[in-house]
Amino acid sequence: MAMRIRELIATRGWVGKGRLASFLYYQAARIASSLGQWGIGRNITLHNGARVAIHHRSRIQLSNSRIIVQGGTFRVGVTQGYFDSTGQGIPPASCQISLENAELHILGDVSLYPGCCIDARNGKVTIGGNTLINGGTHIMCKESVSIGANCHFAREVVVRDDDGHPHGPAGTEPHNKPEGVEIGDGCWIGQRAMVLKGVHVGTGSIVAAGAVVTKDVAPHALVAGVPARLVRENEIWRP
Ligand SMILES: CC(C)(COP(=O)(O)OP(=O)(O)OC[C@H]1O[C@@H](n2cnc3c(N)ncnc32)[C@H](O)[C@@H]1OP(=O)(O)O)[C@@H](O)C(=O)NCCC(=O)NCCS
Repeated sequence: MAMRIRELIATRGWVGKGRLASFLYYQAARIASSLGQWGIGRNITLHNGARVAIHHRSRIQLSNSRIIVQGGTFRVGVTQGYFDSTGQGIPPASCQISLENAELHILGDVSLYPGCCIDARNGKVTIGGNTLINGGTHIMCKESVSIGANCHFAREVVVRDDDGHPHGPAGTEPHNKPEGVEIGDGCWIGQRAMVLKGVHVGTGSIVAAGAVVTKDVAPHALVAGVPARLVRENEIWRP
């Protein structure tokens, strides 16, 4: 069965359309992961007993790209967010992962709640273990987006390492280019916050709801506002 699923993934470049495909995919992942350090497909590999669970409405598109799951379970659209604990109201589009010449590294248990989108072109996205990413969050990557372990993202967060359009003073070369984003371990990113290109958010930091982070954030800082400014230092939060 694993062979057939592998071929399906390799030839069509997507998985998870329809309940049957979702079920078969999960079973194949279980079989493949039980074989140890071996891949479910040419472009999705599971290491150290890793598993994947993909909601049947989620969509994964891979073009010359790979997803590497290093242990734990990668849940894509199958777990509800904080505001949906009843299990009602799963958005019809669920999650979308779209990679082109890119890699997604999942380092342990990671949940993307329904409505998340990871869109990477020519880049590398890394998400650490025990990190929860709430619904509606968009991660856009052209170079590198690294999210640490034990992070909590509220709903509708945006992380992007690129502005999307080149710009600059008329008559000059555009001055903006992609710059990697790094969010350290144990960060809490509030609802509708944005973390923009080149930013390093220090370990254990809190980004308030609606903040637009354009500059580095020190470890254990609380930042808020547009653009985000330091509100308090040595702040601790609990999951
Ligand atoms: C980050 C947060 C928890 C901080 O709460 P807090 O510690 O009670 O903050 P305070 O009320 O003491 O505010 C401290 C200062 O920051 C400002 N501030 C707080 N939150 C702000 C925000 N989101 N945007 C702009 N400024 C903000 C306050 O106005 C205050 O400014 P002042 O000192 O000039 O009066 C809260 O602002 C927040 O964002 N809550 C929502 C988090 C979320 O998205 N949760 C979803 C569940 S995962």
